[in-house]
Amino acid sequence: MQIEFDILTLFPEMVEGFFASSMLARGQKNGLIDIRTHQLRDWTTDKHNKTDELPYGGGAGMVMKPEPIFAAVEQLRRPQTKVLYLAPDGVPLSSRLARELVQEEHLILLSGHYEGVDQRVRDELVDLEVSIGDYVLTNGTLAAAVVVDCVSRFIPGFLGDEKSLTEESFMSTLLGFPQYTRPADFRGMRVPEVLLSGDHAAIAKWRREQQIAKTKQLRPDLLDH
Ligand code: ADE
Repeated sequence: MQIEFDILTLFPEMVEGFFASSMLARGQKNGLIDIRTHQLRDWTTDKHNKTDELPYGGGAGMVMKPEPIFAAVEQLRRPQTKVLYLAPDGVPLSSRLARELVQEEHLILLSGHYEGVDQRVRDELVDLEVSIGDYVLTNGTLAAAVVVDCVSRFIPGFLGDEKSLTEESFMSTLLGFPQYTRPADFRGMRVPEVLLSGDHAAIAKWRREQQIAKTKQLRPDLLDH
């Protein structure tokens, strides 16, 4: 087992199908990853299984209570565990961060809901707060699934084709190049001649030019450093 993930959420059903599909399913079958989703409500002790309360100081929405989260994390964590909290005000997820996280042996991913969790959870339990982008989702469960997916890709042998990762790291500061497959002529739209030429140097040069042009147009910030 390369890495274990425990997802703590109020909506495990949102991602169970995702984890049972495609590469993540294969990674689990091959014993490279273990993914367990947990219903946070299972750690409540009151008869209404309450996980949220009104915020002290007033304001809109509800805040997730500390007790069930502390109980869950204290049960699941081990000495080497890293606890991540998914929140729009965390550090941005990137390939670089994913490559760091894949070095860990056990990640607990805590998904927030409502207006987030009680600050004492963030102060005492959480090692790293992670955002998957500058927008606000209805809860952090999808974000946790995104982290699991993009971290898993960096496990040696996970993709089956290590070349795709090597190419990706070479190109990490540029956007991708256009890909084509058969047929060479589809409704009059022809595949660029250079790709049919068999001239590998010319193809590499064309792809590089395409990458630079696209990056300049869509993500000039990537060319700044
Ligand atoms: N929860 C809500 N929005 C989020 C985001 N953008 N990233 C991570 N967790 C979130």
